[in-house]
Amino acid sequence: MRIVLLGVPGSGKGTQGELLAHRLGIEHISSGDLLRAQIAAKTELGRAAAGYLDRGELVPDDLVFEVVSEAVVRAAAAGGYILDGFPRNRAQAEHAYSLAAPRDIAAEVVVYLELTDDTARERLTGRASLGRVDDADGAIIERRLQLYHDETQPLLAYYRERGILVTIDAAQPVEAVTGAILAALGIDANAQPLE
Ligand code: AP5
Repeated sequence: MRIVLLGVPGSGKGTQGELLAHRLGIEHISSGDLLRAQIAAKTELGRAAAGYLDRGELVPDDLVFEVVSEAVVRAAAAGGYILDGFPRNRAQAEHAYSLAAPRDIAAEVVVYLELTDDTARERLTGRASLGRVDDADGAIIERRLQLYHDETQPLLAYYRERGILVTIDAAQPVEAVTGAILAALGIDANAQPLE
């Protein structure tokens, strides 16, 4: 199965991505985690991306493609992916589709985790003590929310038009969100996890 998770920062993309990957036996690919790994490893790409993450700005598309493309192709070949944090704007969505469609590895379902900005703010502020620089400053959180609304939210219409968007209430407890996603995917939440 090939799934994209969309939602405002704090909507639970990372949390649900990990749970669903385990449940479905496919790979969770987080563009943010891949970029943070590059920064931690002090690679050239990591050095180029670091300032953008720290300020809550979007990393330039070409750097993002460089870290995400190979991971997606590899995961698709191994059985599927849950992609979290990518695509983030129309250019990324179109580029991804143009590369994936000819290989027959384009996303089959886009799961929109719907959450208000106020609840997202509470969650991100609550996580600040865990050390992500972009959670530590209210102005940076506001910038991330604004970029989500300006750049990422328009993708909802793009995927709705393609008939692959499902909307999930992300304000529910974590397990209920996972159950709602599985139900939307037509998977019995009580069945044994796939391995
Ligand atoms: P990224 O790492 O993608 O972060 P984000 O979109 O800001 O999202 P978060 O990780 O903050 O939130 P989430 O929705 O994953 O929620 P989570 O599960 O963590 O991107 C970071 C940066 O990298 C970007 O700003 C940009 O600079 C760059 N970047 C990444 N991708 C890019 C791209 N494609 N293009 C350009 N730049 C890119 O949960 C959040 C908190 O809420 C946690 O504490 C969690 O425990 C809690 N929580 C989760 N679910 C629930 C629930 N149901 N109830 C209560 N609490 C919950």
